[in-house]
Amino acid sequence: MRKIAVLTSGGDAPGMNAAIRDVVRIANDNNMDVYAVYDGYKGLLENNIQPIGRKDVAGIIYRGGTIIRTARLNEFKEENIQKIAANNLKVLGIDTLIAIGGDGTFRGAEALCHHGINCLCIPGTIDNDLEYTDYTIGFDTAVNTVLSAINNIRDTMTSHGRVSIIEVMGRNCGDIALYSAISGGAEAVIIPEVPFDKEALCKRLLADNAIGMKSDIIILAEGVCKADALKDELQNKLQISIRSSVLGHIQRGGTPSMADRILASRLAKHAVELAVNGASNRAIGIKNNEVIDIAINDAVNMKHKLNQELYDTFMLLSR
Ligand code: F6P
Repeated sequence: MRKIAVLTSGGDAPGMNAAIRDVVRIANDNNMDVYAVYDGYKGLLENNIQPIGRKDVAGIIYRGGTIIRTARLNEFKEENIQKIAANNLKVLGIDTLIAIGGDGTFRGAEALCHHGINCLCIPGTIDNDLEYTDYTIGFDTAVNTVLSAINNIRDTMTSHGRVSIIEVMGRNCGDIALYSAISGGAEAVIIPEVPFDKEALCKRLLADNAIGMKSDIIILAEGVCKADALKDELQNKLQISIRSSVLGHIQRGGTPSMADRILASRLAKHAVELAVNGASNRAIGIKNNEVIDIAINDAVNMKHKLNQELYDTFMLLSR
């Protein structure tokens, strides 16, 4: 019986559990035993590796987070640490590792390939910052959570005639901000990919205020600046009423959306198929609704680009 392992690493994302479940079920169907590595690369280093079967993954499809937990381990960049981790898998007879996470997770997996472990990566991060794939698991759910927050904030801001600045996650990527700004009907979006034109924003807020539209919504990506500082600056300068909200980790939790569960299933199925064929060093993703795989190095070295068409659509709609 072949043995493979699965781990989740970096920030958790809704849909990771669905991916774990699907890896286990499909691998078992292909006569492979699956081991869970708990706490990401930290658990791999500390040999926290246990068998995981169909029973363990029953009833987890709807749960956010990751039942095998996650961690961030900077030391995993060190070769001696990678060697120990790879050896822990080899001792158990595990030849393949399926790593679910973002770019840091992918880099760790790429390193392990050089220590004799077949590594396959599934993109799981709310940030959607991996250019080689159109979507990462967790992004859709996070944007829906932001949308629900925008709706609530809009109710109270409209009642008081206040502008709101809503800070969303995404690290250096503006996708959560841009997608939620379009679908939430925001008046402005500030993202790292586009230089922030503060003067234009001030003019817009004053013009709207002058005609009685006092409750503009500004979506701010965390990679640009802090919502609170921007609120103070604009409020002092423009003398209009502004409030800021930082959505924070609420965006990372919650039951995964249909889109994230389907994505998890499709990517997990492909990962196991690659594992069955003894493939290694592949990052699995989705491009134009087709499941694809490319070399992990190529995946992590692609620079994230702005979706210009979406940004233009936002600019048109928010005029
Ligand atoms: O990468 C996911 C993410 O949620 C980012 O959007 C955010 O910047 C970061 O993780 C927060 O990390 P932590 O939970 O370690 O504070």
